[in-house]
Amino acid sequence: MDLYTLLTSALCTLALPVLLLLTAAKLWEVYCLSRKDASCRNPLPPGTMGLPFFGETLQMVLQRRKFLQVKRRKYGRIYKTHLFGSPTVRVTGAENVRQILLGEHKLVSVHWPASVRTILGAGCLSNLHDSEHKYTKKVIMQAFSREALANYVPLMEEELRRSVNLWLQSDSCVLVYPAIKRLMFRIAMRLLLGCDPQRLGREQEETLLEAFEEMTRNLFSLPIDVPFSGLYRGLRARNIIHAQIEENIKEKLQREPDGQCRDALQLLIDHSRRTGEPVNLQALKESATELLFGGHEFNPDRFLTPLPGDSSRFGFIPFGGGVRCCVGKEFAKILLKVFIVELCRNCDWELLNGSPAMKTSPIICPVDNLPAKFKPFASSI
Ligand code: HEM
Repeated sequence: MDLYTLLTSALCTLALPVLLLLTAAKLWEVYCLSRKDASCRNPLPPGTMGLPFFGETLQMVLQRRKFLQVKRRKYGRIYKTHLFGSPTVRVTGAENVRQILLGEHKLVSVHWPASVRTILGAGCLSNLHDSEHKYTKKVIMQAFSREALANYVPLMEEELRRSVNLWLQSDSCVLVYPAIKRLMFRIAMRLLLGCDPQRLGREQEETLLEAFEEMTRNLFSLPIDVPFSGLYRGLRARNIIHAQIEENIKEKLQREPDGQCRDALQLLIDHSRRTGEPVNLQALKESATELLFGGHEFNPDRFLTPLPGDSSRFGFIPFGGGVRCCVGKEFAKILLKVFIVELCRNCDWELLNGSPAMKTSPIICPVDNLPAKFKPFASSI
């Protein structure tokens, strides 16, 4: 083969796939844009739809911060993209966010990616709309009333004290980030589901915690349910949690209502009984799983330093706003306060690596798991 033929065939071998990829990307963009709401005459914002089916999910997952910075520089505060299987318009900036949050049910409507809808379920609060959302939120908010919250505090204190004591007794350093995740999971199990981890036993607690973390890790995945895919793993983990919740519900259904406010799941069951509606097991399992998940993994960007010029009320909204405002806001704030009191009252601590570097993908967390040494006030490390 002469040099000319070799070069031509090498060029064809390289050029052809590139050409095919560009054509596929263009066709994909045309297909996505053709699905635009025909009744809306406003133009779509600038942006790109990425590769067929994957959209720009891979870039977003692999280089989260850089991806967002590049997009912001190129297209400004509002742009279109394609993420986690859905065409998406990303909106930032306090004023724009205010319009979106206050426009829920009128201007816009929450629509989580397909994997979130499948794993958490169509009946959970985050996936409900209009009157169904309004009604269910009112019911769920009973579990976070002033009275209910006051009832939760002694159990919060008990769990927090137990953990702080374990950390104080530990000879080696404590990895605070996983320890806190375990602690929060135990508290959620007890206060929201009425399920005492002591009664479950260490092995079952471990299985549930692992399932919960696996579900959380895979909540945002491509919507492909085949063995070993993210969605498949997320659903498998979700089923383990549902099985435990179902057991709890059945146990609670056998108990006669005594008017005592125990845990969030009990409140939801009592509400169903009062209204005379048949207990919807699936809806209860979905609501309980959502509460367990607790919303704390949502929208980590909201914790980043507010941008200059974003000084309005909507410049920093860790708990969201408008009708979609977090139901667990007061619960989370009380829990944090009780935690700080327990910690400061009982011990001193040292972060062994100093101030931690944080990673933001998929959620904000310390890269080193936060190793720390705890000591009672009277002694030294
Ligand atoms: C520090 C802790 C927490 C933070 C930062 C947080 C943050 C958020 C945010 C930003 C939203 C709004 C999402 C949206 O705009 O659609 C939200 C919604 C929600 N959160 Fe939280 N959350 C926290 C704790 C909790 C806890 C402890 C629970 C349950 C016990 C909870 C349950 C929910 C639920 C059910 C929603 C959906 C509300 C709706 O769609 O109407 N969150 N959370």
